[in-house]
Amino acid sequence: KTAQIDAICALAPVIPVLTFDSAAEALPIAEALVEGGLPVLEVTLRTEAALDAIQLLADKLPEARVGAGTIANPAQYKAACEAGARFIVTPGSTRELLDTGIDSDIPLLPGIQTISEMMEGLQRGYRRFKFFPASIAGGPGALKAYAGPFPDVRFCPTGGIRLESADDYLSLDNVMCVGGSWLTPADLIARQDWNAIRDLARMTVDRLSA
Ligand code: 3PG
Repeated sequence: KTAQIDAICALAPVIPVLTFDSAAEALPIAEALVEGGLPVLEVTLRTEAALDAIQLLADKLPEARVGAGTIANPAQYKAACEAGARFIVTPGSTRELLDTGIDSDIPLLPGIQTISEMMEGLQRGYRRFKFFPASIAGGPGALKAYAGPFPDVRFCPTGGIRLESADDYLSLDNVMCVGGSWLTPADLIARQDWNAIRDLARMTVDRLSA
């Protein structure tokens, strides 16, 4: 499972965190991001449209790696997998979710905010975590400190990260990639300006891979 998460997180420096109002908007937005160089997408289960959007993208955009985020219980985990999610992200770690991740073929990136939560996950065999909400849970300084006692653990920090702060995380050895919603600004979606979303993704990849 660790290798599955590593393979996904190695594909791009950023995982766009996407909350779709409708399944119809999911395809052009996802196409724009993939075209811009961001093939790993996290669709949050915060809207009614989420599962339909995951299914649609899994069918129509096989070159993307579409996962599900904001998974809060085993039922949502199962529903997201049935819709075609290739990975699962949770904002926090419950015993039930950690168990579900161990039993599932679809890998889990569990969310943690504290060392104690991380240690629970480590005990269950997890080595990769979402660090959330990164900017208020200590930011890059916290992750730098975690590397001392836990050198084998790696993170995808998410929450409050923007292009300007992404590099502070990505320059750490224990950060695989970052997650964020900044790649899909509401005004660009309202204007259906998919080209601008593609360009924002492209510029982000250029800046962060430099
Ligand atoms: C998440 O669920 O990971 C966050 O909502 C993304 O955080 P951001 O909106 O601050 O980027």
